[in-house]
Amino acid sequence: MTRIANFYNSVVGKKVIVAATGLAMLGFLVAHVVGNLKVFLPDPEPGVPDIDVYAQALRTFGEPFLPHAAFLWAFRAFLLGTVVLHVITVLQLAAINRAARPVGYQRQRFARASRSALLMMVSGLLLLAYLVFHLLHLTVGWVDAANFEHGALYFNLYNAFATGPMMPLYVAIYLIGMVVVSFHLYHGAWSAFQTLGIDNPDRNTALRWTAIGLAVVLFVLFSAIPIAFATGLMDPPPEPVGHSEHSSAGGAAVEPASSRGHLRAP
Ligand code: HEM
Repeated sequence: MTRIANFYNSVVGKKVIVAATGLAMLGFLVAHVVGNLKVFLPDPEPGVPDIDVYAQALRTFGEPFLPHAAFLWAFRAFLLGTVVLHVITVLQLAAINRAARPVGYQRQRFARASRSALLMMVSGLLLLAYLVFHLLHLTVGWVDAANFEHGALYFNLYNAFATGPMMPLYVAIYLIGMVVVSFHLYHGAWSAFQTLGIDNPDRNTALRWTAIGLAVVLFVLFSAIPIAFATGLMDPPPEPVGHSEHSSAGGAAVEPASSRGHLRAP
């Protein structure tokens, strides 16, 4: 136990924790974008968008051995713990850094390092703000409750990004949010390479391009979703077979079912 405490209390230990929690969140982002891209797949059965099937599978994973949504809640707790540990450790490192402010010739290097740390702090705070908005919008449904239905992901995405007076604002928030996420990810990946000691003058160009590539790929894949809805590329949500729950959720104009898939035919 004391070895774990000693590790956590050391600067190197804290940097490794920041890198490891950052990596875990990157893993989540990759899984999340792969899940989100299911909006582009055809309905597995008429009236049921593929992304909704996937969301339902996440909720029922492990049943009947586990209670309903137990896996999802365990995963949420893990993710929340990861974010909290990441933020607390970053704040502790910043405090240690401030206390060790050097004088003399080291000053310029320090100023450069602290400018980049400041950019990470600011982008991290913006990212948290974006995340809170995003959860209230597409998970909890409080931002536009009249046009939100739990578990109907395609319907919610369509209402957010394809219709309604707030649509341009939502699209702008998500695109700006993705710029912030990608910037933070690029800088974070680059500093993680340094923390983990895999940086080296022979490899640095390749590592920098890896960090840029990761950030750009995630930006493009995530942003494709609001852009596809906003530009009219996507079909309206299908009417669920046998009932009309969606149209009764309020407000949104929902047209008849499409079992063809969700990208509109050219
Ligand atoms: C255009 C970009 C994005 C879209 C369209 C999107 C879409 C969604 C949707 C539809 C949900 C609800 C899932 C459900 O109820 O099962 C969701 C949940 C979530 N999203 Fe995103 N997302 C985007 C970007 C992000 C980013 C960049 C992050 C992290 C920084 C993120 C973090 C989360 C989290 C933590 C959840 C909650 C997952 C849960 O239910 O436990 N999302 N997202």
